[in-house]
Amino acid sequence: MIGRFSLGDELDGKLREGVLDDSFVLLTESSRRNGISKRVSVRRIALGDRTAFQIETREAGAAPIVKNRGLDEMPDWIGGFLANGCVRDIHLSSTSGDLHIRVTRKGKVHVSRSAGGGGNALKDARHDREKHGPLDDFDSSAFLRIAGIAADDGGIKASMRGKYKQVNEFLRAAAATLKEKPDAPLRIVDCGYGKAYLSLALHLWLERAMGFANVRTVGVDRREDVVAAAREAAARLDIADRAEFVASDIESFDPGGADLVVSLHACDTATDEALAKAVEWKAKYVLSAPCCQHELQKSLGGNAPFAALLRQSILRERMCDLLTDAFRAQIMRILGYRTQVAEFVDPGATARNIMLRCVWGVKPGQAAAVGEYLDLRDFWKVRPWLEQRLETRLAPLLERYA
Ligand SMILES: C[S@@+](CC[C@H](N)C(=O)[O-])C[C@H]1O[C@@H](n2cnc3c(N)ncnc32)[C@H](O)[C@@H]1O
Repeated sequence: MIGRFSLGDELDGKLREGVLDDSFVLLTESSRRNGISKRVSVRRIALGDRTAFQIETREAGAAPIVKNRGLDEMPDWIGGFLANGCVRDIHLSSTSGDLHIRVTRKGKVHVSRSAGGGGNALKDARHDREKHGPLDDFDSSAFLRIAGIAADDGGIKASMRGKYKQVNEFLRAAAATLKEKPDAPLRIVDCGYGKAYLSLALHLWLERAMGFANVRTVGVDRREDVVAAAREAAARLDIADRAEFVASDIESFDPGGADLVVSLHACDTATDEALAKAVEWKAKYVLSAPCCQHELQKSLGGNAPFAALLRQSILRERMCDLLTDAFRAQIMRILGYRTQVAEFVDPGATARNIMLRCVWGVKPGQAAAVGEYLDLRDFWKVRPWLEQRLETRLAPLLERYA
């Protein structure tokens, strides 16, 4: 077994310069100390308009840990890294060439070089993945593994393909919606974050792929048991100072304002609550993919000529889903949001594949929007839950044309 030793000034210098050079793509080190194997990988990433380095450490039997370091912190980090004398394999990939160093058990150092394989190194780390989604616009491998969407080898787990697709498509919808990059923080609230797949992916993608310099995410979920895992994932991804998670009902939560409110499959009226809160928090953007809906089913009678349709529970359920989303979209329009309703994933992936995309900016209470809403509501003789929830805001706008 070898003791602490240096790779030598020349190799130390090559590794130091290589990581800090513009051509740098990836540094990996596999090492073994006291029988425990460890893998470190370093990649260059963009954090807003800053260059940073994402350092992922994986030790046998432990969950991976990711830390981000600024360019100015890297010389110290590399110093510590080089001082680590043990049996190790180091691979430095750059666009101009690769350097491979292997230290044997007897402390012998083997060095080999090859022509630029930097591009391949990056592709290898993302192998076996569906390409061309927003999650491929940045190096999302650490996120995917930490969130449990990808296996250790980076491939998407068969059981998580649906969630992977949903998150990708949700990000695609966000890309089509967020047209401005504010200097002020972009405050995001994820209502009903569950395992925080969406909150974490959205936060990382905005920072790393979309160049948002100042993103603040807060997730709210009533389940006490999901908070610790979400916080731990944020800490491992080194974003815990700007992505926080709380255990609370959406109803009683107040972040003091929001710019973007998202919800992905928040159950039943939790989607309505998220929409209502978005209005109250004056969010400019709302992206909401509703989940199961039971509320309207309770109040919808056997209205003629729909009695035959409403008697069949599956047809009744689908009818209520459609009506509920139509009421939601129309209420958001009345309250001043330009609102689109679209399929965000294909129906084969999930039956809950509708998304409401709302952007603040039209005159509230427009006659056409109000008229269409009242016609639909009065035809079905119901009072949608969201209307009741937002009564103080809506009543003056609805009364005018009632
Ligand atoms: C079906 S899960 C979806 C989780 C996550 N958004 C996703 O897509 O993976 C719905 C989540 O909403 C949360 N939820 C439902 N109603 C809520 C409410 N009124 N306030 C806070 N959280 C709520 C549940 O605890 C659950 O974690």
